[in-house]
Amino acid sequence: MRDFLVAGNWKMNGNNAANAELVAGIIAGVPGGGGFSLLVCPPFPYVGAVSAQAEGSPLKVGAQNVSEHEKGAYTGEVAPAMLRDVGCEYVIVGHSERRALYGESSEQVAAKFVAAQDAGIIPILCIGETLEEREAGTTEAVVDAQLDAVLDAAGIAAFANAVIAYEPVWAIGTGMTATPEQAQDVHAHIRARLAGESEAIAGDVQILYGGSMKGENAAGLLAQPDIDGGLIGGASLKADDFLAIAQAAASLR
Ligand code: PGA
Repeated sequence: MRDFLVAGNWKMNGNNAANAELVAGIIAGVPGGGGFSLLVCPPFPYVGAVSAQAEGSPLKVGAQNVSEHEKGAYTGEVAPAMLRDVGCEYVIVGHSERRALYGESSEQVAAKFVAAQDAGIIPILCIGETLEEREAGTTEAVVDAQLDAVLDAAGIAAFANAVIAYEPVWAIGTGMTATPEQAQDVHAHIRARLAGESEAIAGDVQILYGGSMKGENAAGLLAQPDIDGGLIGGASLKADDFLAIAQAAASLR
């Protein structure tokens, strides 16, 4: 059985004092038992401080974005090795906000995925369709294209060391969660597509659901056979809300 990963995407929220309180609250309330991991992804300036605070605890730390370049004249960018240097184990790549607001293409996302892995960081690849795309019946084609860009650049073997997050864009920050069945259908499709390349890797890769996940709907989503955790925005900003999802995961393992 795959472990769950419960990951908080703080987006552009927080400050030193609030982060310290949030992290202390999460660490104090980590559910007992095994079979799940907890991760928080603060904004860049706080990744180092949060990983220092989380050191020695079960809480892992990641970032929300990374440069596809190794180093050099890229003003304002953050290299994968820098993230590694400040204690980052994971990085989100291709979040729909970055694709939509900052024009990141699937090819650029794939380059970030590869660069992160080259620096020893596990990429969390976000894929998902918009409401228009779902209504047009193109959900599978959209996630396939987003996945294929990474398969073309990195190959199936790279997914032995990566996480996928299926995040329907229409469910992000809207309170409109996909139903467990809607999410499961797409998760199963993603896994089947990877299985076409390697059944072993497809069987092991964690596929998270993201989009208005919260304590009240987490258990139903996480009970689905192909949902291996959550990428959580709004409900990751309060320790109790985040821990309610962690508890749902723990109780299923
Ligand atoms: P949400 O965000 O939980 O606030 O919908 C999820 C995400 O964008 O990763």
